[in-house]
Amino acid sequence: MNATDLAYVRYQTPDLSRLETFLLDFGMHPAVPRDGKRLLMRGSGAAPVIYEAVLGGEPRFLGAGLQMASRADLEALAGLPGSSLVEPVTELPGGGERVRMRMPDGFEIDALYGAAPAQSLHLPQAGDFNAAAAKPRRNMPVRVARQTQPVLRLGHFVLHVSDHDSSVAWLRERFGLIASDYLAVPGEAERIIGSFLRMDAGEAWVDHHCMLVLQAPVVGVHHCSFEMDGLDAVMCAHDHLLERGYTLDCGVGRHLLGSQIFDYWRDPFGFRIEHYTDGDVVNHLHRPGVFAGTADETTQWGAKPPLDFFT
Ligand SMILES: [Fe+2]
Repeated sequence: MNATDLAYVRYQTPDLSRLETFLLDFGMHPAVPRDGKRLLMRGSGAAPVIYEAVLGGEPRFLGAGLQMASRADLEALAGLPGSSLVEPVTELPGGGERVRMRMPDGFEIDALYGAAPAQSLHLPQAGDFNAAAAKPRRNMPVRVARQTQPVLRLGHFVLHVSDHDSSVAWLRERFGLIASDYLAVPGEAERIIGSFLRMDAGEAWVDHHCMLVLQAPVVGVHHCSFEMDGLDAVMCAHDHLLERGYTLDCGVGRHLLGSQIFDYWRDPFGFRIEHYTDGDVVNHLHRPGVFAGTADETTQWGAKPPLDFFT
């Protein structure tokens, strides 16, 4: 059984309208008009939904959906303990079918297959950065605006779990996720507490991680992260979000593991949400490493995360 991509993250929120305003400023679009119970947002790529929120009392992370390689994968997952049957997806644009499951700490994880792709709203631009070795942008000035910039896709999310090994085994068994790199207790490389997990696509290039699973005292989401179309988009969105009065959590900087240029914000309910660009892609030739350094060393340049980023 193999997942091929992330589909969406799902949250519960006490105020759909307030969350929608933030996500519009963050660069998403309504996938369908919001009703009184549910908010469905898309990016500018082909995924019909990348962020779902349902109305409820407390702000809470509920779970996520992953695209599977085949319908046979859904049938196999439906046969496992704790899984739903294969059921039609009726409330999301794109439709398709799914199997609902729960991870060891109770996160709702959906396996999906057969959803119709959405029409892309923005075509990413390639090769317009004039580096020292190659200057592909010719007779063409850079002109960008401090305004909302399109979010292209859901890139990854990070879970704090009560038992790292059992959560990773669960994701390996059901979705075929494999580790690109490991996190260990600082100075104790044999004590693994985190795994950067990716889709297993063999020779094909995939993001260094679609998920980070991290052992932590409090279970929940750390952040979810969305890909932007280059550094200008990240920086213009940064200025725009500041002008709109939102709370900057940490940015801009470049991570060590995965190498993304990152920019973390807090949504109106306190959840971290990230814009990123220029992340690593890897294939079967990549060999996982163990990082046992300090929190400070996880940023190569730029803003150092605040202390509460690591709790
Ligand atoms: Fe991230």
